Amino acid sequence: MEDFSSVDDNLMQKEVAEGLSKSQKQLPSKYFYDEKGSDLFEQITRLDEYYLTRCEKEILQKNIKEIADYIGSDVMLIELGSGSSYKTRFLLEELSYLSTYIPVDISEEFLLKTVNRLRLEYPKISIIPVFADYTSRFELPITEGSRQNQVVFFPGSTIGNFDPQEAQELLRNIAGITGENSEMLIGVDLKKEIDVLESAYNDQQGVTAQFNKNILAHINRQLDANFEIEKFRHKAFYNEGAGRIEMHLVSTDKQMVSVGDHEIGFEEGESIHTENSYKYSLEEFEELVADWYSIEKVWTDEKNYFSMHYLKKK
Ligand code: AVI
Repeated sequence: MEDFSSVDDNLMQKEVAEGLSKSQKQLPSKYFYDEKGSDLFEQITRLDEYYLTRCEKEILQKNIKEIADYIGSDVMLIELGSGSSYKTRFLLEELSYLSTYIPVDISEEFLLKTVNRLRLEYPKISIIPVFADYTSRFELPITEGSRQNQVVFFPGSTIGNFDPQEAQELLRNIAGITGENSEMLIGVDLKKEIDVLESAYNDQQGVTAQFNKNILAHINRQLDANFEIEKFRHKAFYNEGAGRIEMHLVSTDKQMVSVGDHEIGFEEGESIHTENSYKYSLEEFEELVADWYSIEKVWTDEKNYFSMHYLKKK
């Protein structure tokens, strides 16, 4: 199998060192997703408190025929951050004329496992994995289907993990990589009561806390660092002014940590900001995409917690 690209250790080293040298220390949330992190995220999606996946599934299931009509036939479906491609199965089942499926993911091990399973389940669909960080420019493989209609599937409100400016850069990048008339089916989490939002990121079982701390384990392994993970505590809250859930890891002690050649000091109570998860109103999201995409259709779940948008490249 061709390997189109993969996670770059030098880039990771640079981004981690830069993030930890800021006055508010931060880490790029894409580094949650090593194999363990991807697995923990899958567990999060099954938690009672984490309504996002359930609501998105409800929208997909209730509207699958209409969604399939929008997507049309003989298309190349490109999924960004595909993980276990769990939600894609709804589409793969319904889109009988889908010819090519291109899952794009940063976690190579996880992606390969998924692709092997999908190839057995859907032998008629040509499945071409791309190991890439889709926040950077990446190439779509040239296939027989390259001239087909391209539909990008970007579920799960992953767009919310980028700040609005980064989200716009990402949309511009995707619009640039895909062909004319390309379309996008994208999941977006909506603004709602603060306690519903905060519970989703502070689950009783502590899976989200493990997921948050796993970023340190990933950095320890990949970059020869020595974070003592038990000396950091999970914190997640809704920042109303910014319209986002913030996740942090709070140092429980004054301590020194080394990452490769860098020595980093932490005060007791000082945090590393590990993730933002922006929540939008329908109007705010329409405005966010307006430079590159027009909105063809919006679906929401019964409680109006989550939305799926069908976009067309302008
Ligand atoms: C992947 N992403 C949309 C998740 C979110 O809700 O922002 C990641 C996550 N972080 C904590 N729980 C889930």
